[in-house]
Amino acid sequence: SVPSQASSDDFLQCLREKMPSELVHAQGSSDFTAVLVSSIRNPKFFTDTTVRPLCIVTPTDASHVQAAVRCGRWHGVRLRVRSGGHDYEGLSYRSARPEVFAVVDLANLRAVSVNKFESTAWVDSGATIGELYYTIAKHNPQIAFPAGLCPTMGVGGHFSGGGIGMMMRKHGLAIDKVLDAKLVNANGDLLDRAGMGEDLFWAIRGGGGGSFGIVLSWKVQLVHVPSAVAVFKIPKTLDQGAIDILTRWQVVGPLLPRDLTIRVIVQGQQALFQALYLGTCRSLVATMGYQFRELNMTSADCQSMTWLQFVVGNTDTPVEALLSRNTSLSTFTKNKSDYVRTAISKDVWRNIFSWFAMNGAGMIILEPHGGSMDSIHTAATPYPHRSGVLYNIQYVVFWQGDGTATTTWLGNFYDFMANYVSKNPREAYVNYRDLDIGQNVVMDDVSTFDSGKVWGEQYFMSNFERLASVKAAVDPTDYFRNEQSIPPLLQEH
Ligand code: FDA
Repeated sequence: SVPSQASSDDFLQCLREKMPSELVHAQGSSDFTAVLVSSIRNPKFFTDTTVRPLCIVTPTDASHVQAAVRCGRWHGVRLRVRSGGHDYEGLSYRSARPEVFAVVDLANLRAVSVNKFESTAWVDSGATIGELYYTIAKHNPQIAFPAGLCPTMGVGGHFSGGGIGMMMRKHGLAIDKVLDAKLVNANGDLLDRAGMGEDLFWAIRGGGGGSFGIVLSWKVQLVHVPSAVAVFKIPKTLDQGAIDILTRWQVVGPLLPRDLTIRVIVQGQQALFQALYLGTCRSLVATMGYQFRELNMTSADCQSMTWLQFVVGNTDTPVEALLSRNTSLSTFTKNKSDYVRTAISKDVWRNIFSWFAMNGAGMIILEPHGGSMDSIHTAATPYPHRSGVLYNIQYVVFWQGDGTATTTWLGNFYDFMANYVSKNPREAYVNYRDLDIGQNVVMDDVSTFDSGKVWGEQYFMSNFERLASVKAAVDPTDYFRNEQSIPPLLQEH
C-alpha cells in the first residue's frame, strides 16, 4: 500500500524527533539533490522521470539507522539502503516502479579498524573498498583483503552480493572471509552474529543487498600478501593469435596455481590478459613458461609493485587516490553476466569476435574461478557458482547520448551466447544486477515466491529456497523489498 501524504509527513516528523534534523534531507530541501547524486554511478537513474526517494537519511550513528527503520515501520514508508551506490540497476536509491520510499545512505558510517594481532578488521558498510584496502595496507603492507577492483564501490553492497576479485582463486570471495556482522533488522533491533543466528548470518553473506536488513559493519579475516606482487597486462590481437590463446586460457586459467590469476578483457578485435601473481616476476615467468606458454609472456611484460599499488592500477598514481569517493556521472552503462562451465570452442570464439566488430559493440570481462573457489561447497554461502565453474562473464556496454545501438547489441549478443554458457538455470551474478532476468511481483503487499524464483534461481540456484525461508523468518511482511529482493517463502508453499 502506498502511504498517504499524511503518513509521509508523520514519517519525516518521526525521523526529526529521533536524530539531528540535518541528517534528514527531504525532497525539496536545498541539499537533497547533492546528497542524492553523491554516489550515483549511472546517469541512467538520475533523470526527470526517475522515481526518487521521499527523503534521504544520512546517519552518523547506529541508533539513527534503528530509528529510521522504526519510523518507517510505524508510518508505512519503506527504506532502501545505499552504501556505495554502485548497484547496476540503481536499486539503492531509485525505484523502477512508482513507490514512496526513503533512502538510508551509510556514507558517514565508514570506519575501518584493523586488529593487527588477530589480522582481522571491522569495516563499516559505508566505507569504500578503496578505503578498506588503503587502511589495511597502512597498518601493514603485507596484509590485504580479497575483494573487487573498483575502489569506489561500497563495502555494504559489495559484501552483500559476494565480492569477486583478483585474489579469489587463492582466498575465495569477500564473503568467504566474513567472521561477524552487525545488522539492523526489520524491527529496528541491532544484532551481531550471535544475536541474528546462523541462518541470517549465512543469508547476508552473498544473498544480495536490500533483503534482510541493514548491515552496518562486517568483521573480516585479513590475508597475507607478499611485500611485492608481480603484474602483467598483455594484449593480443587476432593476428597475434588471440582466439587460440583465449580458447586455451579457458581451461588453463582455472587450473593455474592459486597465487596466479589471469583475467581477460575482450574489446574490439583484441583480448587483454591481465595478471596478478602473489610472488616475484622471476617465478611468474617460470610458471607461465611451464603452464601457459601460448601467451609468450617474458620478463619484459612483468612489473613488480606493492599489492596496494596494483589495486590503484599503476605505479604513477599515489595510493591516496584510493580514498577518493568521487564518481563521474558522464557515462551510461548496462551490464549482464553469465557463467561458463564447458569451454567454448575455437569456432565459436571466431563468431564471438565478429560480434566485437559490430556497431555498438561493448566489452566482456572474464574472471577465472577454480582454485579455492572449487573447494568451497555450493551451499556454504548463497553464492552458488563454485565447483565446476571455469569463469564468469561480465558484459558491459557504455555510451553517452543515445544508447540504442549499444543496448540492442548487448541484448542480441546475450541471446547469441545462450547456447555456450551455463543452462538450467542460466547462472548470473547478483552483484552484476540485471532487472532483465526478472522482477518481483507483489501480491497482497508481499513479493511472491514464484516471481522471485525466476531471477532468484539464476543468481542463487539451489540456495534460493533457503534464502526465501530465512526471509520468511526474519521479515515475513516483506518490509525490506525492491524489484529483486528475496521474497518470503510463506507456509502455503
Ligand atoms: P549500493 O549502495 O548501490 O547497493 C547495492 C545493493 O545492496 C542495493 O540493493 C542496496 O540496497 C543494498 N545494500 C547496500 N548497502 C547495504 C547494507 N549496508 N546492508 C544491506 N543492503 C545493502 N563486483 C565484484 O564482485 N567485483 C568487482 O570487481 C566489481 N567491480 C565493479 C566496478 C564498478 C565500476 C561497478 C559500478 C560495480 C562493480 N561491481 C563489482 C559490482 C558491485 O559489487 C555491486 O554493484 C555492489 O552491490 C556495489 O555495492 P555498493 O555498496 O556500492 O552499492
